[in-house]
Amino acid sequence: MRSPTEFSAWKKLAEHQQQMASVDMTSLFAADPKRAETYQASAAGWTLDFAKNRANNTTLSLLKELAQEAGIEQAIEDMFSGAHINNTEDRSVLHVALRASQTQDSLMVDGVNVLAEVRSTLKQMEKFVWQLQSGQWRGYANQRITDVVSIGIGGSYLGPKVVAEALTPYAQQQIKVHFVANIDGSDITEKLKKLNPETTVFVISSKSFGTLETLYNANAARDWFLRNGGPEDLIHKHFAAVSSNVKKAVAFGIAEENIFPMWDWVGGRYSLWSAIGLPIAIAVGMENFYSLLDGAHQMDEHFRTAPLEKNLPVLMGTLGVWYINFHNAQTHALIPYDHYLRALPAHIQQLDMESNGKANLINGDGVTTDTGPIIWGGAGTNGQHAYHQLLHQGTRLVPVDFIAPLTSHNPVADHHAQLFANCLSQSQALMVGKSLEQAQTELRDAGASEEQVAAIAPHKVIPGNRPSNTLLTDKMTPASVGALIALYEHRTFVQGTIWGINSFDQWGVELGKVLGTDIYNRLVNDSDNSELDTSTQALISAFKKAQS
Ligand code: F6P
Repeated sequence: MRSPTEFSAWKKLAEHQQQMASVDMTSLFAADPKRAETYQASAAGWTLDFAKNRANNTTLSLLKELAQEAGIEQAIEDMFSGAHINNTEDRSVLHVALRASQTQDSLMVDGVNVLAEVRSTLKQMEKFVWQLQSGQWRGYANQRITDVVSIGIGGSYLGPKVVAEALTPYAQQQIKVHFVANIDGSDITEKLKKLNPETTVFVISSKSFGTLETLYNANAARDWFLRNGGPEDLIHKHFAAVSSNVKKAVAFGIAEENIFPMWDWVGGRYSLWSAIGLPIAIAVGMENFYSLLDGAHQMDEHFRTAPLEKNLPVLMGTLGVWYINFHNAQTHALIPYDHYLRALPAHIQQLDMESNGKANLINGDGVTTDTGPIIWGGAGTNGQHAYHQLLHQGTRLVPVDFIAPLTSHNPVADHHAQLFANCLSQSQALMVGKSLEQAQTELRDAGASEEQVAAIAPHKVIPGNRPSNTLLTDKMTPASVGALIALYEHRTFVQGTIWGINSFDQWGVELGKVLGTDIYNRLVNDSDNSELDTSTQALISAFKKAQS
């Protein structure tokens, strides 16, 4: 298997980077009055303005060549057709199928029509959501359900939580949805404090039904239910599960008819579109859940069919590679200028870092390039008063994605114009910066003495030429949120394909789980810890001492 550094486009890009190193983005705008128009592409309700990048036409065509040399077109086809592209687990990767069941009849994978299974699960979800919303589903004391607690972690938690939060304006009033993930008992304690077992349903979301945190929290929920008057024989009225491990869910005590299926061909961090998204559907209704799927499907179709030079995931993916591998960017920031999307960076962080935090090529050889960046970020404008300082004047290059709706769900006075103005001014400031001369003039105009000018002006210099993308949509709707997340899923895949890694396994998390069990046994039992490092020994002793 070829490492990407062996591609001819890679070598050309390395040379091209030398030429571009002295080019300022502002000069690219000055030389091309149509730059904003040409460096723009749209799909599924989103427009990407990628003009504020350190890229000219040569850069873009070399990045396209790189994607082609890495076999992106074939890789996309392989994913959509159900090939086992997750080679280390010998699995298909078909989150796209979860969004295709309303427009496509069949997709045969390993002899099974997966779309038929998806449709039947959606029907099962429809029934459950309707029963909860309409009040037909009753608790053990014949009360209607007012609260649903989703218990899961990782992909079985973050995606549903972030989307449910993003769609707050669409929330149905009848039922409140809560999320519990952390094994820290404070998480479930705080959530349960306000709830009544007679009117609460728990949805245990775990693909494996074997994840420590989820099982602990599920047990705590069941204990709470029984301790507070819930009868053991009516537990089925209060517990449902989403899992591919029906046996384990049944063994836990969940009635088989309350178990929603999951499949091996859906990775955890790509699973919000499956029944793992049940909390979303309960929160915003099934129609909005279908719109979410539809928006993602539109992005899928775009990814599969649009020419590479107008293909949003390919453009964003390859530009990311340009900065990571040719400009030594270590991180990538996502900054949504939308309160409801404030947790999006956390979901994309999980999606991207669990997918592309890898050091081996698909064939097992070590990589010879950097791979996935550290993804981070948070909502604007809040971040402007926190970490944006580093974006503007720090020593690191941090490419940024600004994400904003053109209209607000909450048009309070002219807040939205201010919000939007701040979003645009940040990308502008990152690009244009401020020269020493400008800083000096500014200070002189403000009446500073020459001594003050000399002392302060260097601190006011902002280097500029820092790249960003801006993603705009009319309004944050279920469809636009679906399309946005699908865009980032595919961007992750594009980068993984270029680096030649498997974006769909996650072996790195296993060691921590194994060691966690070993340490737990040492914490709760008498054990000889002398073979451990002295730091771990001391930390174990501190814990034991505190408990006694
Ligand atoms: O942390 C690893 C991981 O396997 C994630 O990939 C997954 O989303 C999460 O744990 C939860 O797994 P499960 O849904 O099986 O409980």
